[in-house]
Amino acid sequence: MKSFEQQKQLLQQTDRLASLGQLAAGIAHELNNPIGYILSNLSSFQIYLAIFSKLIKLYQAQGQCIPASAEYQQIQQQIMELQQSEDIDFLMMDSESLLQDSVTGATRMKDLVLDLRRFSHPDHAEMQRIELVPLLESTIRLTRNEFKSQIEIERDFCEPLPDVWAQSSALSQVFVNILLNATQAIGSQPGKILISMHQDAERIVITIADSGSGISELHLQHIFEPFYTTKDIGKGTGLGLSICQSIIAQHGSALTALPTSTLGGAEFKFSLPLAGNR
Ligand SMILES: Nc1ncnc2c1ncn2[C@@H]1O[C@H](COP(=O)(O)OP(=O)(O)OP(=O)(O)O)[C@@H](O)[C@H]1O
Ligand SMILES: [Mg+2]
Repeated sequence: MKSFEQQKQLLQQTDRLASLGQLAAGIAHELNNPIGYILSNLSSFQIYLAIFSKLIKLYQAQGQCIPASAEYQQIQQQIMELQQSEDIDFLMMDSESLLQDSVTGATRMKDLVLDLRRFSHPDHAEMQRIELVPLLESTIRLTRNEFKSQIEIERDFCEPLPDVWAQSSALSQVFVNILLNATQAIGSQPGKILISMHQDAERIVITIADSGSGISELHLQHIFEPFYTTKDIGKGTGLGLSICQSIIAQHGSALTALPTSTLGGAEFKFSLPLAGNR
């Protein structure tokens, strides 16, 4: 028989896997895009490199010749022909941008993998000092594919935003769940999500409001119950908010929901302790 604590951990793990499952197609797409152009850039560069090698070999051969000899002139002629036929200046310029774009793409892939590890890694389970903005932005990047282009994300953060004392992967699980719920409530309409983070005494208060369908009074009483979902079978496990609530409770706060917000849809609110001098 598992203890209550173990069961909760198991549920949290299940929910994290379910969220990852939901995000997997989007993440694959996010990775596929840079992989596609890095491969195409590298194969263009392979062709360019063959031309550059040919040119360098000609220069090397010319260096071996006696200047002004017939052989020297002949190689000079070949160099000029190659330069004209292949537009070497363009190839040099293009190589630079092919490689620069590939580095940018590979960096994006690396960041995405780091975001994924931050989300899924259990070694981030202890409480630690956390900078909220990078954590939130990495979560937004992970869920980016779910934010169809018509959803605008507005950020309202106090400056400077002090660090909080939290579990990073659990906290990003909370952001993923609330953000996914918001995008699902907005659906295919144009919409908006407003994320605000402000300091109030010894805590940072976070609200996430959306312009989606809102929550009816009837549903509002149940949304934090495990397995309560209004989504189609196979779409939601109904675990999201109950896990979020228990994660937020571990951070000494309560996750609350307003059925409507200034944006029209629902609003979720919780707070986190400041890291202070810990
Ligand atoms: N932003 C929101 N707007 C409207 N309704 C919401 C919102 N967030 C949650 N809900 C309601 O609360 C219910 C429970 O949410 P919860 O995140 O726990 O489960 P789920 O989203 O249905 O499934 P899962 O999170 O496992 O994919 C949802 O089915 C939905 O009816
Ligand atoms: Mg959910």
